[in-house]
Amino acid sequence: MIGSFSKKAGFMLIGVSLVITACQNQPAGTTTGLQLSHEFIVQQLDDAVAQIKVLADSVPADRMPRTFQGDTIVTSDTRWWTSGFYPGSLLYLYEHSGDEQLLQLAKDKLRILEKEQHNKGTHDLGFMLYCSFGNALRLTGDTATYKTILLTGAESLISRYNPTVKAIRSWEGWTYPVIIDNMMNLEFLAQASTLSGDPKYRDIAMTHANTTIKNHYRPDYSSYHVIDYNPEDGSIVAKKTAQGAYDESAWARGQAWGLYGYIMMYRETGDVTYLDFAKHVAAFILNHPNMPEDLVPYWDFNAPDLTADSPYAANYKTNRDASTATVLASALIELSTHTENEEHADYMVKAEHILKNLSTAPYKAEIGTNGGFILKYSVGSIPHGSEIDVPLTYADYYYIEALIRYKRLLEGKPFSGEKIKK
Ligand code: GLY
Repeated sequence: MIGSFSKKAGFMLIGVSLVITACQNQPAGTTTGLQLSHEFIVQQLDDAVAQIKVLADSVPADRMPRTFQGDTIVTSDTRWWTSGFYPGSLLYLYEHSGDEQLLQLAKDKLRILEKEQHNKGTHDLGFMLYCSFGNALRLTGDTATYKTILLTGAESLISRYNPTVKAIRSWEGWTYPVIIDNMMNLEFLAQASTLSGDPKYRDIAMTHANTTIKNHYRPDYSSYHVIDYNPEDGSIVAKKTAQGAYDESAWARGQAWGLYGYIMMYRETGDVTYLDFAKHVAAFILNHPNMPEDLVPYWDFNAPDLTADSPYAANYKTNRDASTATVLASALIELSTHTENEEHADYMVKAEHILKNLSTAPYKAEIGTNGGFILKYSVGSIPHGSEIDVPLTYADYYYIEALIRYKRLLEGKPFSGEKIKK
């Protein structure tokens, strides 16, 4: 565990005033004042290429990597929610390097993942199919191979939509649970409308996002993890957590999923309600008194304040979650492109701070160690005693995505958060 970092934010960034000055009259959609060099970003991506090849050597042909624990790689079958991240990472790194070996490794994994297009038992099809096949379509242009898979998957996902609740069901069990993580699956639906010309997928995504604003968020713009609904009338049965410290706490990755989700919904719909909402969520996260100086959050924003009556107080007050930081970095890069002047600069400076910190010890692993995963110190679920202080395939995916996004900006390419379109 890495618990010795300073706890409070008190976050004054060197150079921030210079950046703000440089960005006066900065129109949305353009970017200036980037502080990380092209050389630095390319080095991190080159290291990621070297590291993912180490990982590739130990992934069985019919499995996907999840984590590395006790010197052993842990893998999953393709039904697990994280199954799209490894092929997605390979594809982003192919985009960076042009290395055909990475494309081939990705295609091998897409073949075993393809059957999940018919999986109606999970809401995680965006993570599973869009991060993988979406990137594959964008980078190869192979509509003939990938379009049907994506649209079949989108149909499977909307089969979980209930018009009375006005949301997509997340899990089985409970009554009708919807988790904040589900915001991340909406990008898949929005892009399925673009791909098919049928607005129904994006319409469902917007309705779900609006229901989530109404019911998941507290007045301070923190999010509950789970809202359990009554599917008969759409009323709320309970507001709970599954992976957070307690029901009223702010589970860190959930806050990042929501932030990324509303930024993406603004990009996909142009509805400024989502952009304004995302700015409030960003403020909750970035201004939280328990945000560490390095902007790698604790697994739950309330964890450092846990009292002895919490089952997690004795052992889990200071565990960081690098995966939350990676989602934040990628989201903040995009948020900066949708904002102007001081806001634009501030979001970007914070994304840069996260990327710099993740790209060094203790978070970044030496090449050839960590089972071939790039980052250390993520948390899957402390309440479930699962994946604590370990690498995680999605931490690596969103770290790589953030680096790719940043590299595009450095190279003056138009920002594109979408995975399907070039
Ligand atoms: N979507 C599950 C998680 O974030 O752990």
